[in-house]
Amino acid sequence: MRLFLKPSNVTEFAALHLNLAPVPVGEVMFSLPLARAVMAGVRLGVFKRLAEKDASLEELAGELGLRPEGARLLLQALASIDHVNESGGRWSLTKNSRRWLDPASDTYVGTFIEHSYDYWEWWQRFERLLETGESVAIHGDDPDDPHWRRYIVGQFELARLSAPEVARAVELPKDPRSLLDVAGGHGWFSAALCKRHPTLSSTVVDLPGSAAIGREIIADNGMSERVRHREGDMFEADLGGPHDGALAFNIIHHFDPPTCVRLLTRIRESLKPGGTVAVLDLFLPKSGRAPDAAAFLGLFFHLTSGAATYSPDDLAAWLTEAGFTKPKGVRIRRIPGQTLYLARAR
Ligand SMILES: C[S@@+](CC[C@H](N)C(=O)[O-])C[C@H]1O[C@@H](n2cnc3c(N)ncnc32)[C@H](O)[C@@H]1O
Repeated sequence: MRLFLKPSNVTEFAALHLNLAPVPVGEVMFSLPLARAVMAGVRLGVFKRLAEKDASLEELAGELGLRPEGARLLLQALASIDHVNESGGRWSLTKNSRRWLDPASDTYVGTFIEHSYDYWEWWQRFERLLETGESVAIHGDDPDDPHWRRYIVGQFELARLSAPEVARAVELPKDPRSLLDVAGGHGWFSAALCKRHPTLSSTVVDLPGSAAIGREIIADNGMSERVRHREGDMFEADLGGPHDGALAFNIIHHFDPPTCVRLLTRIRESLKPGGTVAVLDLFLPKSGRAPDAAAFLGLFFHLTSGAATYSPDDLAAWLTEAGFTKPKGVRIRRIPGQTLYLARAR
């Protein structure tokens, strides 16, 4: 893993350059503990406690019910990736990490990280997936399964980082009244668009387990009058309309190409002529060569729903087939790698 295999002297540089160092061992040995150390920091309350006040190792371990020996190793690992630091025997959360790991921060992403304990189990099934094609089907849980809360609150934590930027980038017809948000989950992108357009209300169509959590998030933020959740499968539910615009965010990577065309066609049928469809996702680069993040996300999407990461050309072809104009892409800076594509119903 390049992150860990930065040479610190000439001998190490030569060993790596001449392919004398066992790079695959480093990839495996370091990536698993790195992920698990950050996850444990959230789950065990290490970041929360250090966000409140600095602590000695003994104080921290005592208060969290940890063995000091293990807690020290965890803190040292977290210090090596700059999440915590130590000064004069006191441990604290770094300024950069406070932003993401302090539960009191409005940019906290700890629930998203907590949700990755589910991933840990899912990856156990990876080789079998490659052999048999049986993916995890993360959207198949019962509506009252606790997984939905971790999943949708985690998605909300990410969405609130980029929603204002995304809402500015989505072009809707003048004085828009009606928005459709398929698979909108938490509904936060809808809320951001409704805040931007005083005339607008949105309908979020999502599965019951997700809609229940989304409804709570929207109510907690005082937006229930403008953003309503409709429970249902977006391939069968009444999508209402005709709408001025529709969002399909972080959803096409869960379906195969014919299913994506079916979804986009349903969306187009629910729009007014000239209405906007906005598709937000992580795409493969145009060159066709997968960079690390898109390649690994492709594996993750394959694991979680049997699908993949797609290219902008794939999306353009599906939009054309579904009756939309050629899409225009807008890079979203707050979530690196994410692109918003906008097209109009023909
Ligand atoms: C990755 S989340 C994206 C949530 C939100 N659009 C965002 O960008 O943050 C995927 C969402 O798709 C929903 N979903 C999956 N299959 C669906 C279906 N057949 N009908 C409606 N919603 C579905 C899930 O319940 C979940 O809320």
